[in-house]
Amino acid sequence: MKRKTAYVCQECGYDSPAYLGKCPECGNWNTLKEITLSESISKTPGAKREVTNLIPKTISEITYQKGSRIITGFEEMDGVFGGGIVHGSVTLLAGDPGIGKSTLLLQLAHNISSNKVVPSASSGQALNKVKDPMKMQKDSSVAPQNDNNSSVLYISAEESEEQIKLRIDRIYPKLNNKSLLILSITDTDSVVEVIEKFKPSLVIIDSIQTMESQNVGGLSGSIGQVRYSTSAFVRCAKQNKIPFIIVGHVTKEGMVAGPMTLSHMVDTVLFLEGEKMTNTRILRSLKNRFGPIDEVGVFMMEGSGMKEIRHPEHIFLSDSKINAPGSVLTTTLEGSRAFLLEIQALVVSSKLPMPRRVASGVDNRRLELLLAVLQKHARLPVATSDVFVNVAGGLKTQDPAADLAICLSIFSSLHNTDLSKVVAISEVGLLGELRKVPMLDKRIKEAKKLGFSAIISAKEYKGIGEVIKKMTNS
Ligand code: TYD
Ligand code: MG
Repeated sequence: MKRKTAYVCQECGYDSPAYLGKCPECGNWNTLKEITLSESISKTPGAKREVTNLIPKTISEITYQKGSRIITGFEEMDGVFGGGIVHGSVTLLAGDPGIGKSTLLLQLAHNISSNKVVPSASSGQALNKVKDPMKMQKDSSVAPQNDNNSSVLYISAEESEEQIKLRIDRIYPKLNNKSLLILSITDTDSVVEVIEKFKPSLVIIDSIQTMESQNVGGLSGSIGQVRYSTSAFVRCAKQNKIPFIIVGHVTKEGMVAGPMTLSHMVDTVLFLEGEKMTNTRILRSLKNRFGPIDEVGVFMMEGSGMKEIRHPEHIFLSDSKINAPGSVLTTTLEGSRAFLLEIQALVVSSKLPMPRRVASGVDNRRLELLLAVLQKHARLPVATSDVFVNVAGGLKTQDPAADLAICLSIFSSLHNTDLSKVVAISEVGLLGELRKVPMLDKRIKEAKKLGFSAIISAKEYKGIGEVIKKMTNS
C-alpha cells in the first residue's frame, strides 16, 4: 500500500509536508509530529478518479425525509436538538469530566433502545415550542417517529463493560434491555466495522479522546488521532445514515480537546455544563445544522441518574423561607426561556481603608460600577461599607438585566427593607438610567406566572434614583 506522511501540529491541527520547528498557524514550538496517512487519505488532488457516476442534481431532484427524527425520551433534550436526533447526523457532546455526559447518554441509549419513546402528545408540544427553520414540527402529520429496529450501540473507550453495568444498575436496577448493546473498545477502525455489521439505529462514542487508530501515529487524544477518528465516524454516519453522538472532554481552557477542529467536522455541538457542587445541569447547543442554537435543556444529577426538569423556572431560587433584607429577584434568559434568580447582598460598615467588594456569581467589576452609580445617582452612602453580593444557588449570571436587582439588594440590606418579593429586571447605565432588556415582556410574564406581581423595570421608571426614592418613601 502506498503511504505518505505528513507533519501535523498537535495543538491546532495545522499540517505541513515537511517538518517545521515552529507551527506557523498557532506559533507553538515542537508541536509538529509526523503522522502516516492511509492510502485513502493521501490521494493526491490530481489522481485519476471515477467520475462517470457523479452527476450534480438540481434542487428539485434532491429529496429528504421530512420529520424523521429520533426522539430521545427526554423532552428537554429533544428541544435542544431541534426536535429529536436527525438520521445520519453527528453530534459532539462536550463537557467537563465528571459532569454527567456518560450518565445522560446511557439513559438516552436506554430510552431509545427500549422503544419506550413513541412520540406522545406532550413531546409534540415540546417540539412545537422549538423554532425549527423548516417548521417541520408544526405539522403534526410529520411527527417524528422511531424505527422499530432501535438498537443502540454504546462504545465505551473509557470504561470497562463491568463499569458500565454497574452504572446501569445504579440508574435502572434489574434492567433487561436486549437492544442496548455495549462494547468496550478503543480502536476506531474496528468500531466502524462493527457498526457496518450491526447497523444500530444510534451509536454513542464515549469518548473521542480515547479512540485511536493504527493508521495514524500519535497517542490517543492527540489531534491527529482525534481528527482521524472523527472523520471516520462522520463518514460512517453519512454512508449508513446512522446518527452518532460523540463525547468530547473539555480542556482547562474550556475548549473541546483536539481543539475546535472537531466542532467544524460535526453537525451539532452540545455542551453539558453545571457546577460540580450543585446538581443542576444545563444542556446547551453551540452549533446545530438542524435546529436552533438558543435552546437549553435543564437536568438534575440525582443518585439514580439524570432527571429532566420540565418546569425549571424557579429551581434557581434559594429555598430559604426567611424574608430577610438583602434579597431581590431577577430574571435571566437561557435560550428562549426565562428563569428567576435570587440576588443576595450584605452591606456592613467597613473597618478597612479600602472597603471590600466581593461578588460571587456576578462580575466583580460590574459590582464596583453599580456601587459607583448608586453612590452618585441614588445618593446611597456605600463608600465606607463592605459589600458582598451573591447569586443564590451557586449560579453565575452575566445578564445585564440583573443590574437593577443587584442595586436593589444592596439598598435593601443597607436600609433593612424587605424586598424579597420584588422582581427587578433592568440594565443600569452609568448615568443611572434604566435600560430595557431583551425579551422584557417574556420575563415579566414568567415572573407573574410564578406569582410575583411587584415587578420593577424600565417600563415604569427612568432612573435608579427614582426607584430608590420611591422605595425609601414607601
Ligand atoms: P459521568 O456521567 O461519569 O460524567 P462524565 O461522563 O461527564 O465524565 O458522571 C460522573 C458523576 O456523576 C460521578 O461523580 C457520580 C455522579 N453520578 C450520580 O450522581 N448519579 C448517578 O446516577 C450516576 C451514574 C453518577
Ligand atoms: Mg464519562
